[in-house]
Amino acid sequence: MVGLGPRKPPSRKGSMADVPRDLMQEIKRLEELFTVDAAKLKAVTKHFVSELEKGLSVEGGSIPMNPTWCMSFPTGYETGTFLALDMGGTNLRVCEIILTDEKSEFDIIQSKYRMPEELKTGDADELWEYIADCLQQFIETHHSGEKLDKLPLGFTFSYPATQDYIDHGILQRWTKGFDIDGVEGQNVVPMFEAALAKRGVPIKLTALINDTTGTLIASAYTDTAMKIGCIFGTGCNAAYMEDCGSIPKLAHMNLPPDMPMAINCEWGAFDNEHKILPRTPYDIIIDKDSPRPGQQAFEKMIAGLYLGEIFRLVLVDLHDNKEVHIFEGQNIDKLRKGYTLDSSFLSLIEEDPFENLSETKDLFQNKLGITTTHPELELIRRLAELIGTRAARLSSCGVAAIALKKGYKTCHVGADGSVFNKYPHFKARGAVALREILDWPAKKSPRDPDPIEILPAEDGSGVGAALIAALTLKRVKEGNLAGIQHPENFK
Ligand code: BGC
Repeated sequence: MVGLGPRKPPSRKGSMADVPRDLMQEIKRLEELFTVDAAKLKAVTKHFVSELEKGLSVEGGSIPMNPTWCMSFPTGYETGTFLALDMGGTNLRVCEIILTDEKSEFDIIQSKYRMPEELKTGDADELWEYIADCLQQFIETHHSGEKLDKLPLGFTFSYPATQDYIDHGILQRWTKGFDIDGVEGQNVVPMFEAALAKRGVPIKLTALINDTTGTLIASAYTDTAMKIGCIFGTGCNAAYMEDCGSIPKLAHMNLPPDMPMAINCEWGAFDNEHKILPRTPYDIIIDKDSPRPGQQAFEKMIAGLYLGEIFRLVLVDLHDNKEVHIFEGQNIDKLRKGYTLDSSFLSLIEEDPFENLSETKDLFQNKLGITTTHPELELIRRLAELIGTRAARLSSCGVAAIALKKGYKTCHVGADGSVFNKYPHFKARGAVALREILDWPAKKSPRDPDPIEILPAEDGSGVGAALIAALTLKRVKEGNLAGIQHPENFK
């Protein structure tokens, strides 16, 4: 195999000996469809660099490249008590973070609340009320009976938002399957504050942040080599620190050219115009059937929300193809249901340690009521590998593009999210791809670090949000009021 990137995990060779011709042909076809070779990765990265530039320009492009008004890296000596609210896809997390006098040390208490599924496609008022209820409950639990001054809060709102100020954010569009009427095109901060005021919750919003910016700042707090923050989870995205002088769309503000500004790239929107990404017919269906067709082209090929769905669409397509004999004579109704399989299903398949793939066999039986043959299991395993590998390899194009744009020859990248943390081989496959894109020479010793390493990040939406709130309070005190809408909240 040439140019296929990382091979199957060494623990398992697999046996294709008894795979009949029709399935073998399909495996080959899928390999061609889903394999992204080094030349393609380089071409994608090159286009990515120009799209990052375009997003910073006055005309703009597909990638929003949102200035965040987070204007410095932490020193490690930030102090104070902050609340952080993380509105993730599955959970809502509230934290109280005390940044202590010790360098890069903090204490944290936190509570998690499940985000009811129906809220994601429900009504805007219900969403804000639910969030305010959780915050109120948190304050009552941890500060009952105390007389509180308004506590500063960093709100991690991980959707694309135009921020004219750090305490402001107009939702550009919902992503990750959210579809709540009446929020897109609106500033979410007053909606959130109104819900808090209604309950008299003693909180003031200091900073609205993205999870990637939080990840960047939290990671840089403990490791100054961290230059990029990434999320590879339900959605995917990255943030990095730009110089204001390199952001033409902010030129009218006359900010000092060497002043830093964290940019939330929103790179999930890369190639929305379908110029370069090697989309398969399955990617096209994912997009067409999503709540926002035409949006998040890159994200839909690599993020956790979609990996299981791509896999499901391929299997249903094969079953429905008369030329291919897969799951013959079986009822595949459960497999026909959209979004029944999440990326953890693929993880389990890729983790199956047995030669005969008996764990995968059990999974199909128990979750989908489908009895599989050995050749079918071989195809299933290969398909999961192809989808997981493509996701990791394409993800590295984004990292390489930022590094190339900024001229970073060496640095650390802080990454978080369920796919990065839990999907088997994602890190290793991504590292192989980065090496191919950036043409690094062979390592002298396997233990040598790569020039650019993607490492597990610190807690961005908790500690990162608190740090950004602290950095913002500090700069306002020092007189830098750029991107501050309500200075009174910073007293
Ligand atoms: C959102 C980003 C977010 C990413 C990871 C994407 O769908 O648009 O704002 O950073 O998911 O959570």
